[in-house]
Amino acid sequence: MVTWQTAIDDAIAKVKQNIGKHPGRLPHISEGQRYEWGENDDWIEGFYIGMMWLAYESSEGAFYKESAQSFLPSFKDRLDRHVALDHHDIGFLYSLSAVAQWQVTGSEAARAVALEAAERLYSRWRPNMGIIQAWGKEDDPENGGRMIIDCLMNLPLLFWAYEQTGEQKYYDIAYKHASASQRFLVRGDRSSYHTFYFDPKTGHALRGGTHQGYQDGSTWTRGQAWGIYGFALAYRYTKDAAFLDTSKRLAQYFIEHLPEDHVAYWDFDVAIEEDTPRDSSASAIAACGLLELLELLAEEDPDRALFEKALHSSMNSLVRHYATTDIPNAEGLLKHGSYHVRGDRAPDDYMIWGDYYYLEALVRMAKGIKGYW
Ligand code: GLY
Repeated sequence: MVTWQTAIDDAIAKVKQNIGKHPGRLPHISEGQRYEWGENDDWIEGFYIGMMWLAYESSEGAFYKESAQSFLPSFKDRLDRHVALDHHDIGFLYSLSAVAQWQVTGSEAARAVALEAAERLYSRWRPNMGIIQAWGKEDDPENGGRMIIDCLMNLPLLFWAYEQTGEQKYYDIAYKHASASQRFLVRGDRSSYHTFYFDPKTGHALRGGTHQGYQDGSTWTRGQAWGIYGFALAYRYTKDAAFLDTSKRLAQYFIEHLPEDHVAYWDFDVAIEEDTPRDSSASAIAACGLLELLELLAEEDPDRALFEKALHSSMNSLVRHYATTDIPNAEGLLKHGSYHVRGDRAPDDYMIWGDYYYLEALVRMAKGIKGYW
């Protein structure tokens, strides 16, 4: 029988295998159940480094720490040369690399890199719209006025920078962006838009839409999961009860719309047929969000039992039916993630962020080790 611990052992063995097979390289979007291994130039490189930190904290193997640390110069160089950083995922990249390294080792060099990254993220604040711009340069004709729900997971880098420096500006834009996300991305029935457009000239709110979901008014499951965890973290840092409530409402919707095996399809509004892709990564992210909620909620909260049951059902299903514990040479930890189904990009494959959140959920449940948000 696969227990949480055997699932963790298997995950750590796969991290080790990947480091050994691809020294100095980082996983990119998968193709054909293999990651493409390359340079530090996409939005996802932090997840692999975060997995090394989780492996180190769970096993105390110095190998994982040394490997994670060896990538810090690459993250610093990326900032210096501004390599593929015209997007908001600076939070994903640097929370799991530089902040994680500072948290685990107290490295001043890592702290300095993380603060520089927070300042770069700050430069994406657009005061006339009251949002952090998701993608592209400021004058980008398509994306100049776009926010997306994923950005909630980039805010912890700003809250952390505020705690470190006392500079109010980091807290203020993170707080305002979370509030705008609540107002424009979350719908009255507790579902969510993936993206929302503003007019960058006037700052006026225009309309909700999607990029990776099924259609503009649908609910992309990974977006909903980013919202569950992201709003819970916004509450952790601000103690604004409205963020906790929003996280709870998104979690209720997510759980109520899960299929029988408790692992999400790629969009809650897509027709379910035999070959409809899943997104196991959405369920792994949601599991981490539920763990955060369970820590933050009052003991007597009426949703506690629902969230506990959903967490265990989803994680059991992931471990038993989606994990690669029976494929020793697999590069990924979770099968059946999807990146961009409509765009036909990795619609059914390993997702490195799915692997990260799956391991984060496992080590938090089994060992009380939290991620680095
Ligand atoms: N943040 C991009 C994605 O979830 O695919």
